[in-house]
Amino acid sequence: MENKSNADKFFLGQPRGLSTLFFTEMWERFSYYGMRAILLFYMYYAVSKGGLGFDQGTAASIMSIYGSLVYMSGVVGGWLSDRVWGSRRTVFIGGILIMFGHIALSLPFGSSALFASIALIVVGTGLLKPNVSEMVGGLYSETDHRRDAGFSMFVFGINLGAAVSPWAVPFAANGFGFHAFGNEMNFHAGFSLAAIGMFLGLLQYYFDGKKYLSKESLYPQDPIEKENLRPIITWSVIGVIALAVVIALMGVTGNLDINNIIWIITIVVIALPIIYFVMMLSSKKVNKVERSRVWAYVPLFIAAAIFWAIEESGSVVLALFAADRTVLHIGGWHFAAANFQTLNPLFIMILTPFFVWLWSSWKKQPSSPGKFSVGLVFAGASYLFMALPGIINGTTSGRVSPWWLVGSWFIVEIAEMLISPIGLSVTTKLAPKAFQSQMMSMWFLADAAGQAVNAQIVKLYSANTEVAYFLIVGLVSVAFGILLLFFVKPIHRLMDGVD
Ligand code: GLN
Ligand code: ALA
Repeated sequence: MENKSNADKFFLGQPRGLSTLFFTEMWERFSYYGMRAILLFYMYYAVSKGGLGFDQGTAASIMSIYGSLVYMSGVVGGWLSDRVWGSRRTVFIGGILIMFGHIALSLPFGSSALFASIALIVVGTGLLKPNVSEMVGGLYSETDHRRDAGFSMFVFGINLGAAVSPWAVPFAANGFGFHAFGNEMNFHAGFSLAAIGMFLGLLQYYFDGKKYLSKESLYPQDPIEKENLRPIITWSVIGVIALAVVIALMGVTGNLDINNIIWIITIVVIALPIIYFVMMLSSKKVNKVERSRVWAYVPLFIAAAIFWAIEESGSVVLALFAADRTVLHIGGWHFAAANFQTLNPLFIMILTPFFVWLWSSWKKQPSSPGKFSVGLVFAGASYLFMALPGIINGTTSGRVSPWWLVGSWFIVEIAEMLISPIGLSVTTKLAPKAFQSQMMSMWFLADAAGQAVNAQIVKLYSANTEVAYFLIVGLVSVAFGILLLFFVKPIHRLMDGVD
């Protein structure tokens, strides 16, 4: 138990293992968000400019469904760690797959490399992300009061990686220059940098992890028994066959195209949490109080999905707005559309200390559903704000000040502070005993569901539809936030003692 000793204060007063996990996740997020910052442009830029020449709507839709799958695959990653590999190995395997995913994009193999990369990074992130977070929790004993601070530092690492890479990766892709993307992009150089980032993360995870991570994390917590294995294999085989049949049918009927595949994924990702809810609500292992808490989680889940739909559209819709509708300099300071991706994590780092202070000193603070409700209003407001330039100018042609995007990201990050950390913590508290890791997957499924919906609607976004798009999505979020406000009390009652 040497790793759970409260006396281990090596890393800024925290256990040494936190430093390992902090840097692993920092580099992983560096690679992920750096790649995403240029991926959209790589997909729709003309072949002559170094891109793949996809239609812009299709590229946007792929960005969203990709993001959706990345958070859906955590379901499998959590399960494999709990029952087969243990978290330490699962994270390592995940990191290797992610690195190869970025390497695939760094090679000049066009769209086949893209789809291979997506598959590798979806599976790899599913293995790595939920388990690296779970290992942070595992560093502390039940009574260790440093746990919350440890998680805050971990989240800081996520955002540090996510804030630096939207500068570094586009810089490499843009002939080593900080300016609007030119006519000859070398996207592969950018993706190579993402691969190098993940490699550095893996190196330090491997060598430091050996020294500082607990031996327990090498083994599954609830190892699978042989007799349980059979139904799982059977169902997996049935699933794969069903999928193959659907794809074959689509092929035979001439419907096998990327948009239809995205439709199928959208439906699966939305069905999955519904199945989970039904399973938990009808399970005999869930008692009355727990069931009531799961019911309380239903509206919170929907709210989270709406919030993540808006938050995650930052790398899709707002990225397009940055590229097509924004002046890419402030005075003599020039930058690229991809650099705007730094704003989300940057504002999180700036706002976190304020919110930590607020929650620790505000005596009569709202309950979690109350915070969610206000969060949704802010998320919607960040979109309504983006409708303004088009309305004020009476046209959506031409470019507007970059401050519009800065303002919008600032507003949506207030929403993120009200929803993301609160949601993570309330999810663990509302989880029925028998479904703890599944509830954690549910939290990521809210993000996946939001992005699955995005995959269908971002196709409709263009300069022509800009004002309507921001108004409608923004109003849906504000309206749901206000509706939720009326239900704060009953939901809080269903939560039965949880804040
Ligand atoms: N943006 C955060 C991350 O990358 C949180 C994502 C989420 O909770 N869905 O870790
Ligand atoms: N908003 C992304 C995540 O929290 C970067 O932290």
